[in-house]
Amino acid sequence: MWSAFCFRFLSAVKLYLLGFKVLLAQLVNKPVTLPVMPRQDGRVAIVTGGGRGIGYEVVRHLARLGAHVIIGGRDEQEGLTAIQRICEEYKEAKVEFRKLDLASLQSVRQFAQSFKERDLPLNILVNNAAVMLVPEGRTEDGFEQHFGVNYLGHFLLTWLLLDTLKESGRCGPVSSVVNVTSSAHCIGEIILNDLNCCKHYSAHAAYCNSKLAQLFFSTHFHQEMQHGRVPVVSCAVDPGMVDTALYCHLWKPLRMAQSLIARLLFRTPVEGAATVLLAALSPALDGDCGGGYWANGHREVTTRPSFDPQLQLSLWKISIQLLGLQ
Ligand SMILES: NC(=O)c1ccc[n+]([C@@H]2O[C@H](COP(=O)([O-])OP(=O)(O)OC[C@H]3O[C@@H](n4cnc5c(N)ncnc54)[C@H](OP(=O)(O)O)[C@@H]3O)[C@@H](O)[C@H]2O)c1
Repeated sequence: MWSAFCFRFLSAVKLYLLGFKVLLAQLVNKPVTLPVMPRQDGRVAIVTGGGRGIGYEVVRHLARLGAHVIIGGRDEQEGLTAIQRICEEYKEAKVEFRKLDLASLQSVRQFAQSFKERDLPLNILVNNAAVMLVPEGRTEDGFEQHFGVNYLGHFLLTWLLLDTLKESGRCGPVSSVVNVTSSAHCIGEIILNDLNCCKHYSAHAAYCNSKLAQLFFSTHFHQEMQHGRVPVVSCAVDPGMVDTALYCHLWKPLRMAQSLIARLLFRTPVEGAATVLLAALSPALDGDCGGGYWANGHREVTTRPSFDPQLQLSLWKISIQLLGLQ
């Protein structure tokens, strides 16, 4: 009981101290400005959780560049409102909404299957959707929510769409998978025999762990593609601290303080989306060879444990087992 409380308390303190440090650094760094991006006519992108926040701004920008963008999300009304707003701004925008609940592996499979039945190319996949600090709970398939939604759901989605990504990368720029992670990965931990955080539960730790798992996935997946000479690249992106609804599960008094501070000091969703867009379009922009961890508009080196190749491989293999993939 006491150790569980201490674990929860310390996990929360660690995340808030990290947030404070990131915020200070953000004040020093200038917001990222986007260069003129190449047109994306004829290219297709999927953005998970593109109905609001950072994802919405990514969808809006890609649509403005002429891409056909598919928002994968749970909330149809939110998705349709997003489309309406984008189409009011850009009459030519080609944006659609498709139901995708990352907390259900069946929903992920259905989404991927119905996309593949349409025989469209897939040039950009942005694994953006996430939950943060949600109360302890399980996905439809029994996984801890942060681990299931932020990490496993996107793992399966990418896996199921891989053939299409490969095919689409053969002519023109390589296909690009962007995993939206967070600086919170720095204090995450991958405990292979407790991926569902059964021993002690802390929503703060679970979020950080899921973001580290995403970074592991991104790095290992990229290496697999490079070894197989497959025309698909993958990178992880930290958008910075951005004023969005992601913080809605914060403890109420903290939430009130956070929303005040956010208005003054956090990045806007447009600014948060900039690094995601740069990473997604860099292969088309300057023939970039992909990979790595992006933050503040460029590749950055992150903490050493994030690149432990043995742990990455073990997590990869366990995830394949958990998802029932061969
Ligand atoms: N905001 C920040 O300060 C910050 C910092 C670092 C990293 N990030 C990362 O940036 C990404 C975008 O976050 P955001 O700040 O834009 O948050 P947000 O506004 O809360 O957007 C999250 C999106 O994910 C969707 N989503 C949640 N659960 C889902 C599920 N089970 N299936 C499908 N979609 C689901 C949400 O849709 P619903 O309406 O269905 O919930 C929403 O559209 C996340 O990966 C986050 O970890 C954000």
